[in-house]
Amino acid sequence: MSFPDGLLATPWDQTVFGFPTWEVVSPEEEVLVGLSAHPGHYTIKVDPLASTEMLHRHGFYYCDTLIEPFAARERLVMFAHDQVGVDFAPDKGAVLKLSHGAFHHGRFHRDFNLDPLLADLRYDQWVAQLCDEGNVFGLTFADDLAAFFGFRGNKIVLHAVAEHFQGKGLAKYLWSKACAELFGRGHGELSSSVSASNLAIVNLYASLGFRFRRPIDLYHRMVR
Ligand SMILES: CC(C)(COP(=O)(O)OP(=O)(O)OC[C@H]1O[C@@H](n2cnc3c(N)ncnc32)[C@H](O)[C@@H]1OP(=O)(O)O)[C@@H](O)C(=O)NCCC(=O)NCCS
Repeated sequence: MSFPDGLLATPWDQTVFGFPTWEVVSPEEEVLVGLSAHPGHYTIKVDPLASTEMLHRHGFYYCDTLIEPFAARERLVMFAHDQVGVDFAPDKGAVLKLSHGAFHHGRFHRDFNLDPLLADLRYDQWVAQLCDEGNVFGLTFADDLAAFFGFRGNKIVLHAVAEHFQGKGLAKYLWSKACAELFGRGHGELSSSVSASNLAIVNLYASLGFRFRRPIDLYHRMVR
């Protein structure tokens, strides 16, 4: 096999971090052995029960475990609040201000080889793209922007409560409203992908009636 066989380029991350970024989609010995000659950042997604001996031998280290919350329409638990509303076209600048620096549980922030400011920038760019696509709800509390909720189809992709609204038990009112809006678009099931270490979001999804499936461990390697 010759480089980059078995790899998938992730150009959106390369733009932010300034070096080549790849996902190793075929984590076989003959692919891993060739990486040392090619500076860049590599990601491997593995079943948590699979052996990681070969990954450690080739310089990969653990970064995060993702789990997939999912719920069918009939399982959604609604928490109604008369002060909660949805803005279907929230101001992009206000959304970016709210979301900037919120995603510190992500694998890019947990990777000691990556600059956390660039990791923030990665999420800023993703949120901006979701806004441009029209795939963001602003969630309001008493007419204030309290959260943003980004999605693509039936996948909830990025979401955050504004820092000054966090930790007040408000999220279940905001999220149940947003999920009901998405189900109202005809989806039979909603799903997301969250870090298992992010207990606030795990508990939030659990209280809304979501279950969890498909755990995936994420390993990274940096070749200088
Ligand atoms: C995750 C997030 C949306 C939750 O909103 P929040 O306002 O902080 O959460 P709430 O206060 O409403 O609490 C949500 C639930 O989690 C629990 N919880 C809150 N913080 C917790 C913590 N640190 N550890 C464990 N459980 C926690 C609460 O008890 C609550 O459950 P309850 O309503 O049944 O009591 C918010 O913290 C956030 O925006 N974080 C940064 C961005 C992010 O991580 N987004 C998700 C990944 S894309």
